[in-house]
Amino acid sequence: MKASRGLPADLAHPFSPRGRADPYPAYRWLRANDPVHFDVTSRMWLLTGHADCALALRDPRFSAALGQRERVREDALPPSMLTTDPPEHQRLRSPGALLLGPAAIRGIAAGIAREVDEVMAGLAGRTEVEVTADIGEPVATGVLARLFGLPAAARTEFAGLAARTSVNLDPLAGPKEAAAGRAAMGELTRFLGAHADRALGGRDEDGRTSPFGRLAADDRLTRPEMLGVASLAIVGGWKPLAEMVGNALYWLLPRPEEAARLREGGEEAAGTAVDELLRVEAPIPFIARVTTEAVPLDGGTIPSGARVLALIAAANRDPAVFDRPDDLVVTRSPNPHLAFGGGTHFCLGAPLVRHAGALLLHDLLSRYPGLRATGSPPVWAPSLVPRRLDGFTLAL
Ligand code: HEM
Repeated sequence: MKASRGLPADLAHPFSPRGRADPYPAYRWLRANDPVHFDVTSRMWLLTGHADCALALRDPRFSAALGQRERVREDALPPSMLTTDPPEHQRLRSPGALLLGPAAIRGIAAGIAREVDEVMAGLAGRTEVEVTADIGEPVATGVLARLFGLPAAARTEFAGLAARTSVNLDPLAGPKEAAAGRAAMGELTRFLGAHADRALGGRDEDGRTSPFGRLAADDRLTRPEMLGVASLAIVGGWKPLAEMVGNALYWLLPRPEEAARLREGGEEAAGTAVDELLRVEAPIPFIARVTTEAVPLDGGTIPSGARVLALIAAANRDPAVFDRPDDLVVTRSPNPHLAFGGGTHFCLGAPLVRHAGALLLHDLLSRYPGLRATGSPPVWAPSLVPRRLDGFTLAL
């Protein structure tokens, strides 16, 4: 292990309350000065360069399963694909394509368009809205309700459970919140179990079985495993999707030329823009792994059995890979950002996020070209995952 330098005194630690508001100066310093950094506060190795982070996500010497075993037992939940290594990982992930693969998303595209349209129609007559409560959360709930074939009457309970379980995403949540989040997981699993049988026979207004119905009918997984895949999609998906719109507008509204490019370029341009918006403000800023053996990197050797955080929010602004890394360039292509991770655990929800995000942002900016922030400037919430804003109000 090499001696690791500490951050200069004037830079806030990226996980401290001050650093969470703006972690980018610390990320920049680490990437330039100590890209393989042992952090004494978290007792973890922090990787900040794009090449090192991409390697940690793709190389089997970085395990997603090690270090998670205690947590899985404590939760009394079936093993999750997120915390499993190959070959077991592939067994759990393959059927997940029935729920979240490109064909599943194409199958509910008309339903997603109706959901976005309904949320937009609900804004008519309003002069001011709060982005997450009035747009992000209702859209995330509607989109996931389509995936799961949920009847209208179940949506409020579903949204409550999705909100309560989303705390499980935050590794630094306090013990009380974490315990509440785990308890809510049990409730979510029971809720999904009750809906699985209905989803098997249920049809939407276009006569289709929901993607969840097709997953539930598949026999490659046991029922608890199938419910584990489904609940992971909700825990990993609802909150990041709900918060994405606020983060996107935070960047777009002060840059009207970029917003105009997104609005005027049609849906394909909006899809390219979604990737760029996720690059500059990665909602999941880091990914944890544990090394199975010592791994020599240019910036130093990580010992075996070490806990590693690939700081993808830092990698996404690496000047070795991205021109003008701190600027929003909505037409950026190619865009090898790591906001969806990489390798075998690459976000299974990415087709859904790209599709729904592009549709929503394009629709919102087209319907409300005068959209502007109002009230006090929004602040970044203290939670680390997902990175999100508190109290972002807009005048329509
Ligand atoms: C802006 C929104 C989202 C972002 C930034 C995001 C990001 C990520 C990242 C970084 C990973 C990799 C984690 C790792 O390697 O340990 C991941 C995995 C995953 N995501 Fe997403 N996600 C988003 C939305 C969604 C949605 C909407 C869903 C489903 C409805 C979803 C489902 C999943 C699943 C199932 C995995 C696990 C894949 C595996 O372990 O093989 N995500 N996501």
